Amino acid sequence: MSLVLLSAVVVLGILSVLRVQSAGWPRFLTVGLHRNLALMTLVFLALHILTAVVDPFTHLGWLAAVVPFSSYYRTFWLGLGTIAFELLLAIVLTSLVRGFIGQAAWRLVHWLTYAAWPFAVLHGVGTGTDAWSAWLFTLQAFCVIAVLAAVGYRFMTGSRDPLADARSSFQDAVDRREPR
Ligand code: HEM
Repeated sequence: MSLVLLSAVVVLGILSVLRVQSAGWPRFLTVGLHRNLALMTLVFLALHILTAVVDPFTHLGWLAAVVPFSSYYRTFWLGLGTIAFELLLAIVLTSLVRGFIGQAAWRLVHWLTYAAWPFAVLHGVGTGTDAWSAWLFTLQAFCVIAVLAAVGYRFMTGSRDPLADARSSFQDAVDRREPR
């Protein structure tokens, strides 16, 4: 669920920056879903991490969930999961305080999504017990195809917003303005 949600969030984020919409699907729906599913992804990830940490079979401990590559158990693959989670946390937290940190800093952190998502995929494939079972393999393949298609479309199309640069500079100027 975490991976499916995360992949959906990445696709929706790309669709919203490309301003994709139709008569039956206005853009605010894409933006709203992107935000809400991102928060839901964190909830599912918190559950995933909690259940992994308290699992009596692995005895992971909390350090493994916080410090990448510190786990004795499947060190490398778990480390990738920890990095992915921490990047996501940074992305969501900076989005919540976007007004304070400014558009440029927010955007810089948001680009980390392009690192977090592949780390999460590699983590799941590398360490998952079910990763190579038909159902999960199909689900993962679907996520990978959806995200790669969206990313490909994003980089072929560029920004659809003709005022994106002007808007971004204006927002930075507003963010930097001295309080009266
Ligand atoms: C963005 C972050 C993450 C995502 C999307 C994610 C997703 C996944 C997926 C899809 C699997 C495969 C499940 C299976 O095949 O049964 C998996 C396995 C696993 N994950 Fe994560 N994970 C993330 C972060 C973490 C973190 C931070 C930890 C804790 C340190 C963790 C611990 C584990 C463990 C122990 C397994 C192996 C479960 C098993 O043996 O079946 N994950 N994860």
